[in-house]
Amino acid sequence: MKKVFLETFGCQMNVSDSERVATTLSARGYEMTPMQSDADVILINTCSVREKAELKLYSQVGRIRKHFEKKPVVGVMGCVAQLEGETLFDKIEGVDLVIGTRAVGRVAEALDDVFKGGGQVADLGEREPDYDWDVAEPQRHSPYVAFIPIIEGCNKFCTYCIVPFSRGREVSLPASEIVRQVLELRRQGVKEIHLIGQNVNSYKPSDESGLESFPGKTPFSQLLRAVAATGIERIKFNTSFPRDFHDDIVDAIEENDNLCNWVHLPVQSGSDQVLRAMKRLHTVDRYKSKIDRIKSSPRNIALTTDIIVGFPGETREDFEKTAELFEYCEYDMAYIFKYSPRFGTPSFKMADDVTLEEKTARFNELEKIQKRFQTESLSRYNGKTISVLAEKFSAKSQDDLSGHSTCHRVVNFKGSARMLGQIVDVRVTEVKANSLYGEAV
Ligand code: SAH
Ligand code: SF4
Ligand code: F3S
Repeated sequence: MKKVFLETFGCQMNVSDSERVATTLSARGYEMTPMQSDADVILINTCSVREKAELKLYSQVGRIRKHFEKKPVVGVMGCVAQLEGETLFDKIEGVDLVIGTRAVGRVAEALDDVFKGGGQVADLGEREPDYDWDVAEPQRHSPYVAFIPIIEGCNKFCTYCIVPFSRGREVSLPASEIVRQVLELRRQGVKEIHLIGQNVNSYKPSDESGLESFPGKTPFSQLLRAVAATGIERIKFNTSFPRDFHDDIVDAIEENDNLCNWVHLPVQSGSDQVLRAMKRLHTVDRYKSKIDRIKSSPRNIALTTDIIVGFPGETREDFEKTAELFEYCEYDMAYIFKYSPRFGTPSFKMADDVTLEEKTARFNELEKIQKRFQTESLSRYNGKTISVLAEKFSAKSQDDLSGHSTCHRVVNFKGSARMLGQIVDVRVTEVKANSLYGEAV
């Protein structure tokens, strides 16, 4: 049996694709291995969102070629594969297989072809719309947590972003299919599902069956209600696009305990001028009014965001507006990125005029503000009892378990193996930099 090692970079869409690939490969006579040195095939699921992410592919293939005596078949999947296609065979020596994001369902066929002596194989073809969750023993990052892509692709074309090019146009899965998957996962013992997509709240299925029971709401909040009605213990969703974030999403959270209290709402900048140049389609004021609604909720909804510093033309003054917005929103967590020009995007043509030193300085400044709010937000849990899904043994100690709270905080705690897969009450006894520590009560 050929052994496959699969490494995943990038966002949760890639994680989900990798899970799907692992499941299909296992069903098709390949064996997934956690040992890279042992593998007959190394698949790299790539990300292209920033230059650094893309460079990981090059360094990985270089490392494989240098250190591995046994020459494994090397396959490139994901966004770099979709964007670069067959040119990767020339750009990187030692690549045998290129599988685009749209051909991810056909990795097994492509690998079969390589082993049949087909030489270098590339498939960037059309993506098949639905996939088979009924395959025995699905391979997921956790047996208790599952990702369900509800919308693929992106139509927004923010000027800096490569994703619309690597993932194509938005396609929403029918609600009835999503609900079917949730029910099936629940039957398999999954406790928490994440509805995922580049912009989940732009959800707009062409077939609205499954949403009839929730009239008068936006399609995404209808979907949330329909999924909540399945009775699955926990539902999380990300990412949300600010322009399409409507109050009825918060209403849905307030009406359903199993809709978790966490919203990831990337703002990117606190300056209207920069937001316009980014084509984010929202203003700071409109964003703030959405934040006000989220913060007004008795559900105590955790709020996280993404930020880009050093976008072309971002002045010191623009940056200070971002810092002010951070003070206003008091994010529980923020992912801060330095602007990275991506070939083929509209902003690639704009002068990348904020120096790296200045980008770094702005990054550090924001990070400092962020850490302050993060520490404050974590400290509020000290001494409190929160509900945690026990997902696995902690990486540091076999006596501890690790999981997430409803607001998506990492919580490590003293507990026993029989708790795995259960939602347990944990009393928080210690606040760490990025996580909480406690004991099961
Ligand atoms: N669809 C989501 C995010 C997708 S990409 C949204 O619209 O919010 C994840 C994050 O990567 C983005 O939110 C953005 O902060 C960052 N990002 C995307 N392109 C980038 C670039 N060219 N340079 C730096 N950061 C970038
Ligand atoms: Fe990229 Fe904008 Fe689409 Fe998000 S919404 S994936 S940032 S183009
Ligand atoms: Fe990266 Fe592709 Fe996701 S570019 S962020 S892996 S959609």
